[in-house]
Order: sequence, then C-alpha cells, then structure tokens
Amino acid sequence: MSPPLCGRSVRFAPPLFLLLSLGALGAQYCVPRKTFPYQHEELRLFREEGIWNYSTMLLREDQGVLLLGAREAIYALDIHNITSKKAALYWRVTEQKQKDCTYKGKLFEVDCRNYIQTLHKVNDTTMYVCGTNAFSPVCDYMSYSDGRLVLHGRQEEGKGKCPFDPFHRYSSLMVGSDLYSATFINFLGSEPVVLRSSNTAVRTEFKSSWLNEPTFISMEHVPESVDSEEGDDDKVYLFFSENAMEYDFYSKLTVSRVARVCKEDMGGQRTLQRKWTSFVKARLDCSLPEPSLPPIVQDVFLLKHQNWRRSVFYAVFTPQSGSSRMSAVCAYSVVAIREVFNEGKFKTPVAVETSHVKWVMYSGELPVPRPGACISNEARKVGMRTSLDLPDKTLQFIRDRPLMDEAIRPLTGGPLLVTQGSALTRIVVDNVLALDGQVYPVMFIGTENGYVQKAVNYAGEMLVIEEVQLYEDPQPIRTLRLSSSEGYVYAGSVFGVVQMPVSNCGRQGSCSDCVLARDPYCAWDLSAASCSPVNGNSFGSAAVQSLTEGDTSRCTPPEPISVVKVKLVPENNIQLPCRADSNLAQVHWFFSDGRRLHSGPKYYVYGGGLLLLNASVADAGLYTCDSVERLRGRTYNKTMAVYDLQLSHGLGETEEDDLQDETDKAPDSSVGSDIPSTTAQSTIQAPEPDEPLLPETHTDAERVAGLRVGVAVLSLVSLSLFAALLWKLKVGASWRCSPPGGPRDIQAKTPVVEYAHVQNHAHVQNHTAVAAAEVQILAPGSPCISNNNHSAVDFKGNGHPHFTSMANISCLDGLGYINDESEI
Ligand SMILES: *[C@@H]1O[C@H](CO)[C@@H](O)[C@H](O)[C@H]1NC(C)=O
Ligand SMILES: *[C@@H]1O[C@H](CO)[C@@H](O)[C@H](O)[C@H]1NC(C)=O
Ligand SMILES: *[C@@H]1O[C@H](CO)[C@@H](O)[C@H](O)[C@H]1NC(C)=O
Ligand SMILES: *[C@@H]1O[C@H](CO)[C@@H](O)[C@H](O)[C@H]1NC(C)=O
Ligand SMILES: *[C@@H]1O[C@H](CO)[C@@H](O)[C@H](O)[C@H]1NC(C)=O
Ligand SMILES: *[C@@H]1O[C@H](CO)[C@@H](O)[C@H](O)[C@H]1NC(C)=O
Ligand SMILES: *[C@@H]1O[C@H](CO)[C@@H](O)[C@H](O)[C@H]1NC(C)=O
Ligand SMILES: *[C@@H]1O[C@H](CO)[C@@H](O)[C@H](O)[C@H]1NC(C)=O
Repeated sequence: MSPPLCGRSVRFAPPLFLLLSLGALGAQYCVPRKTFPYQHEELRLFREEGIWNYSTMLLREDQGVLLLGAREAIYALDIHNITSKKAALYWRVTEQKQKDCTYKGKLFEVDCRNYIQTLHKVNDTTMYVCGTNAFSPVCDYMSYSDGRLVLHGRQEEGKGKCPFDPFHRYSSLMVGSDLYSATFINFLGSEPVVLRSSNTAVRTEFKSSWLNEPTFISMEHVPESVDSEEGDDDKVYLFFSENAMEYDFYSKLTVSRVARVCKEDMGGQRTLQRKWTSFVKARLDCSLPEPSLPPIVQDVFLLKHQNWRRSVFYAVFTPQSGSSRMSAVCAYSVVAIREVFNEGKFKTPVAVETSHVKWVMYSGELPVPRPGACISNEARKVGMRTSLDLPDKTLQFIRDRPLMDEAIRPLTGGPLLVTQGSALTRIVVDNVLALDGQVYPVMFIGTENGYVQKAVNYAGEMLVIEEVQLYEDPQPIRTLRLSSSEGYVYAGSVFGVVQMPVSNCGRQGSCSDCVLARDPYCAWDLSAASCSPVNGNSFGSAAVQSLTEGDTSRCTPPEPISVVKVKLVPENNIQLPCRADSNLAQVHWFFSDGRRLHSGPKYYVYGGGLLLLNASVADAGLYTCDSVERLRGRTYNKTMAVYDLQLSHGLGETEEDDLQDETDKAPDSSVGSDIPSTTAQSTIQAPEPDEPLLPETHTDAERVAGLRVGVAVLSLVSLSLFAALLWKLKVGASWRCSPPGGPRDIQAKTPVVEYAHVQNHAHVQNHTAVAAAEVQILAPGSPCISNNNHSAVDFKGNGHPHFTSMANISCLDGLGYINDESEI
C-alpha cells in the first residue's frame, strides 16, 4: 500500500495526520482512590466443577433469578445469592456432532463443545437460548418454572443467530419476538451478518463496504417512535469494530463503529430484497490523550432514560496498537448519533488510479426519501408505507454508501475516563440517587485482571472511587450485568461468576472515611454512627454526604490513636510501618521536634513506612505518620501511626526476654511469615496483633495486613539483599516507569542511589537477615492528573504496588512486593 502524504490532494488528507490531530485533546488518567484486594466474605462466587466459560447472562428480576449460560450448561441462580443454585440444565453436544466437528479440523475439547451464547426473554414464561453446538449452532426455547429449567425441544437452526466459533465475539438482542443478531453465518467465519430473524427475515448485504472483517460488540434497542412528531420508527443500534475502508493506511487499520437499522425495515422490493434498507454506520470517535491509532470499542452499555432522547451510550475502548496501556470510556448521546444518521453527509467511493478506491464526502444531491431513513409521516404521505415502497434510487444509494462522512463525537468532547494499567473490558452504569437529590451515573468497569472499578463524575471531575478484586486469581471479566433494584453487579469469566454489591458502606469505619470516599451510595449516619447505604434509608436524625466537595467539617474529629513503643537499638536500621490511607494520599512523617522527615542518607520514606538508617541515641523520640490527601484545594490529614522510639531501658524486661527466646528458636522465622522476628542484636516491640492500631480503618484488610508486619528492625544484610533484588527486577521490567504527577516524598534524589547507599553498608556489619517487609514506593497523586506534558500516573494498582515519581526517577521499575526473604 502506498504511504500517506505521497502526491495526494488535500482532500485525501492522510489519515495519520487526522488521527494525530484528534489525539491532541487534554485528558486525565485516573487512579482508583482505594484498592480492595480479594475478600471472599463480601463477594459470592458461583462455579461448578468441570464447567467453564460462564459468559452469558440474563437477569430475570421478575423470577428472582440470574440465568447463566456456560459451556454445555445453563443455570438459574438466586439473584440475591448466586451461590445458591436453583436449577441447572446440561446441554451437551452429541458424540456424532463432536466427531463431525473434529473431522472439520476443529479441536475436540475446546471448539467442539456447546457454548451457550444466547439467552433472551421471549415472554414471561419462555426464553430463547442458542449454543455453538460443536460448530453447528442451534437454538431452542426454554422455560424456568417450579424450580426447573426445561428446554422445549423445538430445536431451530442457529446459523446467523449464534456464532459457530465460541471465540468470535458476537451480539444479539430480542425485541418483541424478533431476534436481532450480529455474527458470522458460515463455518469459516468469513461471512458477517446482521440479521433479524422474524417472519420477514432481513439481513445485511454481503459487501465489504457494509461489514469489513467486523468484531461485533453490542446491540441496543431505542424506542424512538415514542412521542415522535415525525412518525419515526424504533431503532436497533449495533456497536462493532472493523477494518476501515475510508483511510489509506500502510496496514490494516481498525476503527470503531456504530450502525443502526429501523425496526420496521422489511427490505426493498427489487433492490435490497430482504436486506436492510436502513443500515447506516458511522465512525465512533474516542480520542486518547496521546497520539495513537483510533482505539477499539470493547463494550457498550445503554443508560436508559424514560425519555429516550436523554439515553446515553457508555463505551469502553482499548488501544489497537498494543503499544499503549491506556483504556478509555467515552459516552455518546442517542441524540448525537441520531443527528449524524438523520442529517449528516454520506461518504462515497471514488475510483482513483487503477482499482484503487477512495472514500470521500458525497456532496451531490441526495435522492428522496433520504437514504437510510426509516419510514416517516412524510414518506407515508406520498404513499410509502413500508420500506418495500422505497424507490430504487434511494435504495441503490444506501446499498453503495452505508457510511456516514462524520464521526460520532463523545458527549463530553473527549473521554470521560482514561486509565492506564490493566485494560478495561466491560461496563455497566447505574443511576444513583444521592442525598443531595441528584442522580449520578456510576460506572462499574471490569478489567482484564479481574477487578471492577467504580467511577463517577462530579462536576467535571472524574473520580474512581475504588477498585475491587473479584477473583483470587486474575480472570479477565467477560460479562458484566447490573441489577439496579437488587443492588448487585454480576461479573462473568471463564472461571466463574462473581456477585458484588454495588457498595459496601460498612467498610468505611469513620465519618471522615465515609465522607472522603465520596461514594453516592453511602452516607455517614450521625445517629447510628455508621457509614450506611443511602437507598431506602431515612436516616433518623441526619446524615453526612459531600460528593463534590468531600467536606468532612460535619464529622467529629477521630479519637487520637495510641502510641506504639519501639526499642531503639543503636547502629541498626529501624522500620516503622505505615501506609497511606488511599492511593491518592501521601504519607508525611514527622519527628518529635516537628521536623518533616524526607528520604535522604538518614531516612528512607517508602510506601510501607519509614526506614531509619543506622539509628543513634539522638533518634529517640516520637515519629508520627500522617496520610495527607488533597481534595478541591483542601488538605485532609489523618494520623495513621505514632511510634515512640526509645532506648532499651524504657521497656519491660519480660518483653525483651520473650523476643530473645523467639529469635533464639528461629533465626530465620521470617520466611513465609507476615510477622517479623528479630535477632539477638535487635529487639522490637510489635503492636499486639489483636489490638487494632487504627480503629478507624480496621476493616481495611490491606492495611491490617500491612500493620501485622509489625515493627521490624531491618539488618543491613537484609537491606543489601533487597537492593540486589530490586536491581535484578529493574533490569527486567520497564512498565512502572512514569513521569511526574505532583508533589513527591521521593525528592529529586533517585532511590537507586539510596539503595546503593544501603548496599555500601552491607559489608560493614552483618546481622542475620530478619524482616519480612513489603517494600513499596509511595504512590501519591491527585485523582486525575492532567496530561499536558504527556505525563502519567502509572497506575499499577490492583493490589500491586504502584508509584509515581519525578520525571527523572525514571527507573525504579523493579520495586515490587517483597513478601518474605524466600523470594530473594
Ligand atoms: C448463599 O447460598 C449458599 C448456598 O445455598 C448458602 O450456603 C449461604 O449461606 C447463602 N448465603 C447467604 C448470605 O444467604
Ligand atoms: C411465549 O412464547 C412462546 C414461544 O413463542 C409461546 O409458545 C407461548 O405461547 C408464549 N406464552 C405466552 C404466555 O405468551
Ligand atoms: C473456555 O474455558 C477454557 C478453560 O479455561 C478456556 O481455555 C477457553 O479459552 C474458554 N473458551 C472461550 C471461548 O472463552
Ligand atoms: C553509624 O553511625 C555511627 C555514629 O552514630 C558511625 O560511627 C558509624 O560509622 C555509622 N555506621 C555506618 C555503617 O555508617
Ligand atoms: C496533620 O495534623 C497534625 C495534627 O492534627 C499536624 O501536627 C500535622 O502537621 C498535620 N500534617 C500536615 C501535613 O498538615
Ligand atoms: C560477617 O559475615 C562473614 C561471612 O558472611 C563472617 O565471616 C563474619 O564472621 C561475619 N561478621 C560478623 C561480625 O558477624
Ligand atoms: C508542562 O510543562 C510546562 C513547561 O515545561 C509546565 O509549565 C507545566 O506546569 C507542565 N504541566 C504539567 C501538568 O506537568
Ligand atoms: C532531569 O534530567 C535532566 C538532564 O538529565 C535535567 O536537565 C533536568 O533538570 C532534570 N529534571 C529534574 C526535575 O530533576
């Protein structure tokens, strides 16, 4: 293919230029404020031994069940508690089918099975279900009643309704009793189709200008005939990606699309017989904040409004190049899409040179009625009652030119949300009525590594409230469903389905935690002194919620936290654990004299606490760890820990003996343990394991785990081992490198140098290595850091350490968890 920019007129503007210029919008990378690692108590998992690929879901709130399609199985699960299986139905392929499939070159165990792909409600008693059936798709009716799932045995051809290949993405939708499906209609998967199976089946023309190696994503019905002055029809929207035909590019370029058809479309009389007369498509624009190829749509959720004109599509995008780790969410109003289809210009193919076709804007006269339009009052007036009455001119035009010239722009001009790290996969959006009487759309976004992020926009500020790990082992989230009325999100994966409450207010133990979380589902109940769900709660006296401001002034200040005594052993390194309260907070350490402690030759401030190097008598005193979070120009300050470092004479003898005994017994007992032991030369006073240091946050499992590390005295030997490990990791990875984002604890000095400093000490003194510590670089940052300089918060998140650094601290990438020394 010819490279862009070579001898083309301006009209054929090189696509790359166009795409790059679109990418110039400023945007924001968002870091989830809190990360909640896997906790099985609040999540419910359903899976059955030997059954995989839990990827199809149908919520039947009317019957109180979640219908779940997996590989060769369909389940009815209690919608409140999916662990409770109410019925199961196994639909296996016959041996013959499986053999036939294998003869055709497909894999016996993987391809030649029955993957349930379609589950739709037909009416109150009946559902429609299709499976791949060993590359020979088949459909049937099914009912759920009296606690039993039954197939009606009215098997129907599934070709075109359900994919042959379980690995092909596909979409379908039931409107009334008509099934709309977008899939490949042949065994080879080479013939894409958008099909309506009904009395008058209608499908797409098999032409690359209609569908060009598409990946089908999602379909939605919008009842546009309701209150329509022009007598418009309902629409079915289809989201997909395909190879672009309108750009000259050195290689295949994928673009995201939205297409739509009219519900009453019957096809044409001569032209476009039994083909859509209303199939029009446009490019979906969602420009990432850095120059990149157009991102690819992965999932779409229609946030419905009673007035369909106010309904909004939320779409998740991931980059196509693989070079970027960004994902984005863009929102599109139904009205904006409609406007482009109803009033926009078309593109038309123009032959240039030999056999080469360019797509340019069509500027000639349009036939009447407008190509691609649904039958409207105006058409009815001149006797065109159905699409069968449309003139050939209109039909020929749309047959050859289904693509609109203009792209669909996002509602907000650019992405609502841009994240880095694990790719976003699926999205659902809930409308949440907050205490202020406003309704906020809250997004739940699944990720490639099994987390769900919860994000909301407050007056232009995008806040990712939290991310919750749904699977113990990372699983890409493949399906996401929301039951707004029940207050649950259901996430499907290859491994199983997880049910997650839309909020877990009780996790916030104090008023300020509850308010700072800025979760529209939760408010601090002043009379009950607890963080409670807003929904259906009358709140006896009053409740505090401050979503846009995060204003905690109505909260009573928390009780001061108790001081932990730590024994000072001269010439040792002393570790004082403390973690920031959120991913957006920074830790500040203060000494008795009010002096702020920074990383340097003497101290090392890291994500897990403070390291006091080569302690001396002068270091005795109080060490205070504050977690400081900036929000709307205000600073929130929460004391996380206070340590009193004293020479040994201040401590009881018995404690000393105990510790002595312990270390004598097990000099390397730290291996594989959370709680550090110590050596003969160094002693500790660890906090009582049962006595929560921080009553406000004792529900935060991560922090408790962090505290259980206790107060350890690190020896120089173990530090040098850390240094060696860090270096080793550094060589291997570069993904944690990131440019600046805000004020830093780590000053311009690079941590690499600090570790070198530690290493230099290594041969001077050697104690037995003791500590089990998590070494982590602090991850400060504001919720959304502007990216004007292409800087980013490199969010590692998801339970892993993450950090941001000064531009020049470019290679601290190796810093990771060191859970125990056995890893060294
Ligand atoms: C959910 O269902 C399972 C299985 O029936 C049961 O063991 C469990 O107690 C239920 N949990 C709740 C909270 O009802
Ligand atoms: C539901 O749909 C099925 C299949 O089309 C039909 O056989 C059945 O009569 C319908 N039931 C009701 C109550 O409409
Ligand atoms: C189904 O699950 C199996 C087992 O984990 C997995 O290897 C396979 O890729 C899955 N198939 C599809 C179509 O997702
Ligand atoms: C530790 O500090 C003492 C003085 O307090 C000094 O003599 C000693 O050399 C230092 N040790 C190291 C390894 O720097
Ligand atoms: C946080 O508050 C404490 C006392 O409430 C104060 O001593 C400390 O300096 C404050 N820290 C910051 C960073 O404002
Ligand atoms: C330090 O370690 C070396 C070898 O690892 C050993 O020979 C030496 O005795 C140790 N010194 C002390 C003071 O423990
Ligand atoms: C971007 O760079 C300019 C000039 O170097 C600087 O003034 C501005 O603060 C930077 N913005 C960010 C967000 O880093
Ligand atoms: C980063 O390094 C460059 C040269 O390597 C230097 O000019 C610049 O001042 C440094 N920036 C910071 C913030 O340290």
